[in-house]
Amino acid sequence: MKLKDCHNFSDFRKLAKKKLPAPIFHYIDGAADDEITYNRNTSAFNDVDLVPNVLRGVENIDLSTTIFGKKIDLPFYCAPTALQRLFHYEGERAVGKAAKKFNTMFGVSALATVSVEEIASIIDTPKMFQFYFHKDRGLNDAVLERVKAAKFDVMALTVDTITGGNRERDLRTGFTSPPKLTLSSLYSFVTKPMWGINYLTKGKFELPHLQDHVSEGTDIATSIGSYFSTMLDQSMNWNDAEKLCSKWGGHFALKGIMSVEDAKRAVDIGCTGIMVSNHGGRQLDGSRSPFDQLAAIVDAVGDKIDVICEGGIQRGTHVLKALSIGAKACSGGRLYLYALAGAGQAGVERALNQYRAEIERGMKLMGCTKISDLNRNNLRFRK
Ligand code: LAC
Repeated sequence: MKLKDCHNFSDFRKLAKKKLPAPIFHYIDGAADDEITYNRNTSAFNDVDLVPNVLRGVENIDLSTTIFGKKIDLPFYCAPTALQRLFHYEGERAVGKAAKKFNTMFGVSALATVSVEEIASIIDTPKMFQFYFHKDRGLNDAVLERVKAAKFDVMALTVDTITGGNRERDLRTGFTSPPKLTLSSLYSFVTKPMWGINYLTKGKFELPHLQDHVSEGTDIATSIGSYFSTMLDQSMNWNDAEKLCSKWGGHFALKGIMSVEDAKRAVDIGCTGIMVSNHGGRQLDGSRSPFDQLAAIVDAVGDKIDVICEGGIQRGTHVLKALSIGAKACSGGRLYLYALAGAGQAGVERALNQYRAEIERGMKLMGCTKISDLNRNNLRFRK
């Protein structure tokens, strides 16, 4: 299988599986417990049907939308995800450059492997930083200042990782950051020698936002689950979020809001957006999908802040359905990570291009020329 054979999410997933040592592939691919929520995140879109209109003159389609005060050319963007240089040696550089080409938002994780300063020097398109609230307050302040100095456009505080999810695939494979060879994973690393050569020769693995403050994740190998459980501050509450929001002083979002009540509180503390998200099903299994919660949340706060639908998106029509309900945009991680693992920047560009083509085709077939043409009249719920 080659990049040119990748025509959809599942093709890119296959390519990533071919390229990556098993522990790393399963870190991306896996989710919590029985992965019921992970699967539901996508299948929820099948409970709603699109109802097209015709004869509308659809030769010119405008896919742009405005989120956090920034116009982006696509109604979806690259959600912040951790550890990208483990997936491809160019890591965040590759994803950032691809996002720039398509003029869409690029999300950079606190657990990124390339610094915000470097990202800011190569990408002048909209950027979001995703923040974890650590026990170490010095770390929190230092990270905030760095991101401010790098002039990122949006700060997103993740609120759904207060403890590590039970990711059983990671337990089985022994996945850690940085990766370590165990007797059981040896075979999977030996069978992917190109990955190993790139990992060892293309620069040292680093977590530039964290490693001056904590050794876990760089000098001390740790699983992501245990990183969340031990390094993040479980006392984090609405006051902390409000203080962070005012300290930041710009566009601020809570990432991982699922209830209407919390969406309203996000407005109250000064957020300008929320990501309706369950962290790709990687945290609380058995929780509801973002798409299933979207309508209630849009009805409650959609006229006050930007509501982003995050998770489960594998098709352009999924984006069309979320936008029809009232999301301002969609975002996802796996939707570009498999492509990154499969073929670096070229892979991410191919994936973004395919989603753009699917959305544009879907808009034409729906009789819509701009995002604001999509609305709930275009949809029927099956139950
Ligand atoms: C994860 C984090 C790091 O889900 O976002 O693995």
